[in-house]
Amino acid sequence: MLLMTELQDAMTYIRSRYAHPIQVVAVLGSGLGDLADTLQNAVEIQYQYIPHFPKATVSGHAGALFLGEIRPGVHAAFMKGRFHYYEGHPMAKVIFPIRVLKMLGAQLLLVTNAAGGVNTEFSAGDLMLIDDHINLMGVNPLAGENLEALGPRFPDMSEAYTPALKALAREKAAQLGIPLKSGVYAAVSGPSYETPAEIRMIRTLGGDAVGMSTVPEVIAASHMGMQVLGISCVTNPAAGVQTGHRLSHQEVLEAAEKAKTHFSKLIQAIFAELPVATPEAMPSRS
Ligand code: HPA
Repeated sequence: MLLMTELQDAMTYIRSRYAHPIQVVAVLGSGLGDLADTLQNAVEIQYQYIPHFPKATVSGHAGALFLGEIRPGVHAAFMKGRFHYYEGHPMAKVIFPIRVLKMLGAQLLLVTNAAGGVNTEFSAGDLMLIDDHINLMGVNPLAGENLEALGPRFPDMSEAYTPALKALAREKAAQLGIPLKSGVYAAVSGPSYETPAEIRMIRTLGGDAVGMSTVPEVIAASHMGMQVLGISCVTNPAAGVQTGHRLSHQEVLEAAEKAKTHFSKLIQAIFAELPVATPEAMPSRS
């Protein structure tokens, strides 16, 4: 089926469950799922019911879209659980929800994730504002036919992470006394964690944190002209940073769980002041 038709199907279904145009999308990474409970007047839609959405498969990543208000009159979609390339989903599916939510009006994307600390100054539990990214996934989510209705064939990525949103995040972190590092997020395809040699390579290339998500969503959002804010939770020293340290998904989940109080507070403070424009949802073509 044509991509635009699939997007329209998903859009129509979501709209039938939540009629308000969406202004903000937040992808809740590991440990942040509880933020969905902070939405006012929320509607929960399991991913499995949304036409053409893939199913989330990783434990610790439940799959549902929560739609509600982050403050009166500001409608947001929280993705509790995201789709990863390493699960076997084609890139077009990984970014499908972001595209649908943009078509429902969203102008702003907040992405969060768990990441390994490549920068030796980072410790487990640190929050890192994503200053920029390096795509080492070996694929670009926009490869294939370009839909001009979504964005240009060769989109600029020189400000993929919106400077004003970075400034807002820094300001809120400072006000709350929450330490916020910043750095470059390098995305790999996974699912194996990196080797120590790969981590040295990433450090040499300028990466400060490494993870298996986020970059596809950010490229897709930027392609569509959305503003983007990204924050990583450093859950572990990356491979080889600490001798004798072996990585496990369990460690990642536990560290994300521990950091969640800080992380949620920061995100809520940012949400309280997000500059949101009057929504302009794309009219349904059906
Ligand atoms: N590497 C890749 N992805 C990750 C890591 C890591 O060390 N920690 C959390 N996600």
